[in-house]
Amino acid sequence: MRLNQCFNFHDFRRLAKQRLPGPIFNYIDGAAEDETTYRRNTAAFEDCDLVPSVLAGVADVDLSVTVLGEKLAVPFYCSPTALQRLFHYDGERAVARAVEKFGTMFGVSSLGTVGLEELAKNHTFPQVYQFYFHKDRGLNSAMMARAKGAGVRIMMLTVDSITGGNRERDLRTGFSIPLKLTLGGIMQFAMKPRWALEYFTHEGFRMPQLEEHIDMGRGATSIGDYFTNMLDPSMTWADAADMVKQWDAKFVLKGIMSVEDAKRAVDIGCAGIVVSNHGGRQLDGSRSSFDQLAEIVDAVGDKIDVLMDGGVHRGSHVLKALSLGAKAVGVGRYYLFALGAAGEAGVERALRQMRTELERDMRLMGCKSVAQLSRRNLRFRSGTTG
Ligand SMILES: Cc1cc2nc3c(=O)[nH]c(=O)nc-3n(C[C@H](O)[C@H](O)[C@H](O)COP(=O)(O)O)c2cc1C
Repeated sequence: MRLNQCFNFHDFRRLAKQRLPGPIFNYIDGAAEDETTYRRNTAAFEDCDLVPSVLAGVADVDLSVTVLGEKLAVPFYCSPTALQRLFHYDGERAVARAVEKFGTMFGVSSLGTVGLEELAKNHTFPQVYQFYFHKDRGLNSAMMARAKGAGVRIMMLTVDSITGGNRERDLRTGFSIPLKLTLGGIMQFAMKPRWALEYFTHEGFRMPQLEEHIDMGRGATSIGDYFTNMLDPSMTWADAADMVKQWDAKFVLKGIMSVEDAKRAVDIGCAGIVVSNHGGRQLDGSRSSFDQLAEIVDAVGDKIDVLMDGGVHRGSHVLKALSLGAKAVGVGRYYLFALGAAGEAGVERALRQMRTELERDMRLMGCKSVAQLSRRNLRFRSGTTG
């Protein structure tokens, strides 16, 4: 299978599976426990039908949106994700170059493998920094100051990961950083020599966001230890409020699922929230982001920008989320499989396909701009209006 045979999420996933060692593929593809939330994230979109309007004179379609004060050419963005240079040797660099071409935004993860300074220097898109909250408050302050200095425009604090999710696929293969592979996992790496060749002939693996502050690179701290020992499960709303104050610029909470929490995010001065369950990788059984979106938009959508991610594979999924009131929609595995499949060219193809699908769907729905999308054109099979 080749890149020019990839026409949708499933094709990119298949090609990534072909290229990546099994433990890495399963790290991306997997989720927590029975993976019910992961499956429901996408299935939820299928319980919502579109009712198109015709003869609306849609010659041109404007996909641009303004979110968190930033103008984006398309209403979808690449969510922050960890360890990208394991998926392709170019990692975040490849994603950033593709993102730049489509005029959207991208967030580097705390567990990213390319430094936020480098991305900020080389790109003009709105720079997002995904942050995990550490027990050491001094460390949090230092990391925020570093991000500010580098030109990060949006701070995104992930609040659904105060402890690591129970990802059984990773337990089975032994996937962790540093790798502690099981025999089966080692065999799966041995079956992908091309990946190994590319990986070992490029710059060594690093986690630049953390290495200045924590000794991770040489195996002193594993990612598991990082979550268990360094992140602060006792984090409270008061801590988040302090961070918002300290950052003193656009601040977003990622991983909000309840109306009450959305209201609190407004109260502490956030500019936005991401309705997200971390792609089903944390609390299995959590409601899907799309199922939960409408009630959050109804509660706070006029006070704060509501974004969402989880299970988005199609332009029509983006269209449905925007119709419910999301300001922008994040994709995770959709671009990660494309990255694993073919680096920058893969991500570019995936983003182009998403844009083309959305443009076509807007036309078929009779909508010229994102502002014209509304719940009037949605019907939910359960009988609710979302
Ligand atoms: C391999 C992988 C790594 C991720 N790493 C992070 C991370 O470091 N920080 C974070 O806030 N979210 C992380 N996420 C969650 C994504 O930002 C996003 O919420 C999720 O992927 C959306 O679901 P989707 O993959 O179905 O699109 C990760 C997701 C995946 C698949």
